[in-house]
Amino acid sequence: MNYNKKTVKDVDVAGKKVLLRCDFNVPMAKDGSGVITDDKRIRAALPTLQYLLEQGAAVIACSHMGKPKGEVKPELSLKPVAARLSELLGREVIMADDVVGADAMAKAAALQPGQVLLLENTRFEKGETKNDPELAKALASMAQLYVSDAFGAVHRAHASTAGVAEYLPAVSGFLIQKELEVIGGALDNPKRPLVAILGGSKVSSKIGVINNLLEIADTIIIGGGMAYTFSAAQGGKIGDSLFEADWQEYANEMVAKAAQKGVKLLLPVDTVCGDKFAADAKSMTVDAGMIPDGWEGMDIGPKTVELYCSAVKDAGTVIWNGPMGVFEFPAFAKGTEAVAQALSNTDAITIIGGGDSAAAVQQLGYADKMTHISTGGGASLEFMEGKELPGVACLLDR
Ligand code: 3PG
Repeated sequence: MNYNKKTVKDVDVAGKKVLLRCDFNVPMAKDGSGVITDDKRIRAALPTLQYLLEQGAAVIACSHMGKPKGEVKPELSLKPVAARLSELLGREVIMADDVVGADAMAKAAALQPGQVLLLENTRFEKGETKNDPELAKALASMAQLYVSDAFGAVHRAHASTAGVAEYLPAVSGFLIQKELEVIGGALDNPKRPLVAILGGSKVSSKIGVINNLLEIADTIIIGGGMAYTFSAAQGGKIGDSLFEADWQEYANEMVAKAAQKGVKLLLPVDTVCGDKFAADAKSMTVDAGMIPDGWEGMDIGPKTVELYCSAVKDAGTVIWNGPMGVFEFPAFAKGTEAVAQALSNTDAITIIGGGDSAAAVQQLGYADKMTHISTGGGASLEFMEGKELPGVACLLDR
């Protein structure tokens, strides 16, 4: 894939104030201690940040965190991010008390080349998710150049991800470039066979991606909660499993479309089910479509594991989005773990979508064995659907 957007390397940043949009929406410990449980997104921002600083720019970084809906919520402050970023950079990160208020404006005005300022959570401002031009203008007024490196948020047309590009020259950082080149390359010109593994709970959230991948993949593997809607649509008994009644017809259409296009569509042949949705649920393995009432499917079974792992073995490229089961519960993590292990043993290019699949690969200890783990959950999914990404479309073409 030819990346056709300007990057920080195509512009002169020396001596300029640069507004750098990052995706610092990192998971935090649930106890309110402010401990960041996974700093991958902060690390992923370092190459662009360091480059800008080395080139003599003054960097005003910004990001959203969570969904505060325009309210100032102290538990969603970016202060812990500033602390972690400062440790990783080995230099002070000045923290603003607000986004475009008096404190941010004064600190941005005083910022010198080589210094970093982090604005507060952009979603503390009501205008952020509404892509309010006034907020975009206020953000733009602090800087002379806008750099976006927030791959995880490029599917959002918000004031700090897209709107601001109306008021400043806008280019991308290295992370967006890498994500689009790697994922785009696998979609445009994959080393074949291309195997797509799709899991997660809902068929409805994966429709676009299944549709698009039916045009390019050689094999599509279905796992996770959404497999039960396929099973029910084929007349299987799914007990109390996750189920989207409205999507049964669609599931059958996908099966027919795959057959018509010569794409292998693999569905589970057996299921590990539990008697309740809990880590200590009783479990048993049954053939697919044979789940008794009172039980729910929580993982793919051993015969399915074998089938899926052998489909992955000789792949040229594997794209994986969505876990195979409830991997957060060790008793139901075996399917997801086996797939992760199979991916780590192939010579294939392995690309893991962000969000749950990235978390699973990380939690199960296979992260360093993959070619690429995306920092974007929704963003990588929308990119794989072939949708335009507003946070990329707004950047200057090369
Ligand atoms: C993500 O975590 O996927 C991104 O940071 C986007 O967050 P959002 O879904 O709250 O817009």
